[in-house]
Amino acid sequence: MRKIILYIAASLDGYIARPDGDTSWLHDKRYMLEGEDYGYSTFLQSIDTTLMGHNTYKVVLGFKEPSPFPAKANYVFSRSSHPDTKQVQFVQQDAAEFVKELKQQPGKGIWLIGGGQINTLLLNAGLIDEFILTYIPIILGSGIPLFAAGAQERQLQALESKSYRNGFVQLWLQPS
Ligand SMILES: NC(=O)c1ccc[n+]([C@@H]2O[C@H](COP(=O)([O-])OP(=O)(O)OC[C@H]3O[C@@H](n4cnc5c(N)ncnc54)[C@H](OP(=O)(O)O)[C@@H]3O)[C@@H](O)[C@H]2O)c1
Repeated sequence: MRKIILYIAASLDGYIARPDGDTSWLHDKRYMLEGEDYGYSTFLQSIDTTLMGHNTYKVVLGFKEPSPFPAKANYVFSRSSHPDTKQVQFVQQDAAEFVKELKQQPGKGIWLIGGGQINTLLLNAGLIDEFILTYIPIILGSGIPLFAAGAQERQLQALESKSYRNGFVQLWLQPS
């Protein structure tokens, strides 16, 4: 069965964006390590599908790169109806049921991009198979949390951890 992998970066205090959705702090030049992509390109090759909430999609649309990922199947969850685009299919039906079915189909890994609301929905449904969390050495104090209110307690076990010279710490976890 295909795996759902939550691959995401968070501040030390567990936020994935500032209150207004800003994620520029992730790309602060002070963190730059020449030639280091924290496993991103290898990860990208391992997946052929992405999942994201509508709020995340709206942020991604503002990025310079072709968005979200032209060569992948991209699904965006929303409670309201939106026309599909060349790159994106909107999912209005029960999100957990949709993801369960997607996992049964043949294919590569499925990247759960976020954000906090969709992470929580799929966490509570027990559908996240792996977590690759990159902690950035910054305390934001407020913002959009990695998991929205209502996330249920869940124990995870470590698969691997990596630390980088710039203070980034990457945790690879799976449900125990
Ligand atoms: N740090 C990182 O690596 C990272 C990664 C990803 C995202 N982010 C940030 O996270 C922020 C967004 O997170 P978020 O928690 O606000 O929102 P989100 O999870 O991205 O999207 C929430 C939206 O998803 C839809 N939704 C929620 N529950 C649903 C359900 N049960 N069924 C169908 N659709 C449902 C709703 O869309 P409608 O309102 O259209 O109904 C809701 O407004 C952005 O600022 C983004 O930049 C950061």
